[in-house]
Amino acid sequence: MVKIDILTLFPEMFDGVLNSSILGKAQEKGIVQFQVINFRDYSESKHGTVDDTPYGGGGGMVLKPEPIFRAVEAVAGDAKPRVILMCPQGRPYDQKMAEELAGEEHLVFICGHYEGYDERIRQYLVTDEISIGDYVLTGGELAAMVVIDSVVRLQPGALGNQSSAEKDSFTTGLLEYPHYTRPAEFRGWKVPDILLSGHHANIERWRLKESLRRTRERRPDLLEKGELPDEWKALLAE
Ligand code: ADE
Repeated sequence: MVKIDILTLFPEMFDGVLNSSILGKAQEKGIVQFQVINFRDYSESKHGTVDDTPYGGGGGMVLKPEPIFRAVEAVAGDAKPRVILMCPQGRPYDQKMAEELAGEEHLVFICGHYEGYDERIRQYLVTDEISIGDYVLTGGELAAMVVIDSVVRLQPGALGNQSSAEKDSFTTGLLEYPHYTRPAEFRGWKVPDILLSGHHANIERWRLKESLRRTRERRPDLLEKGELPDEWKALLAE
């Protein structure tokens, strides 16, 4: 059972996401336990203040340290969870990091909105800063959902068909091969004959070749990470 706590000022943003589809089922199966916490509840002021103007002047607001420290300490107890701050300055997120986080027992996500964070949150509370890409969102919530989704689906038993996680793009290092289902002919467009042949070894070979071609065409950077197996080189040369 992995525990995932989410600190946000907009808990309602998570409603549909955590309770639907694979994430909802994972929760029902006891694979994951989510807790969404409004860190305004940990404000020390009676008005629930969570931000303030920046020292040194300038525009915008800065999230105060007290509510976020208190909320993290409340969910952490004596344990030492990974405390993850979602922000565009963070480490670029990828499947390798999803696999790393999937091995943890307890993850705490901090999602800010509009404003910056007091630097002491980064320095003394957070263990990881993650960016989901080189663009700016209105808040960390959508980014946290992306990371949570990719981590939960890697938990044993979360996906109906376990082989689907193993065959993922990026787990194998290649993009996926083309998929087809019935009908064998649709508006004159035919499914490749080989997939109807019933010859499993040939089908596997065709799929690997298509994966390699697609990766070379769309994401050549993925093939440049190391020496390719001889079988791959031969298929690419065909
Ligand atoms: N918050 C705003 N933009 C973000 C991004 N690209 N990744 C993670 N958190 C964010």
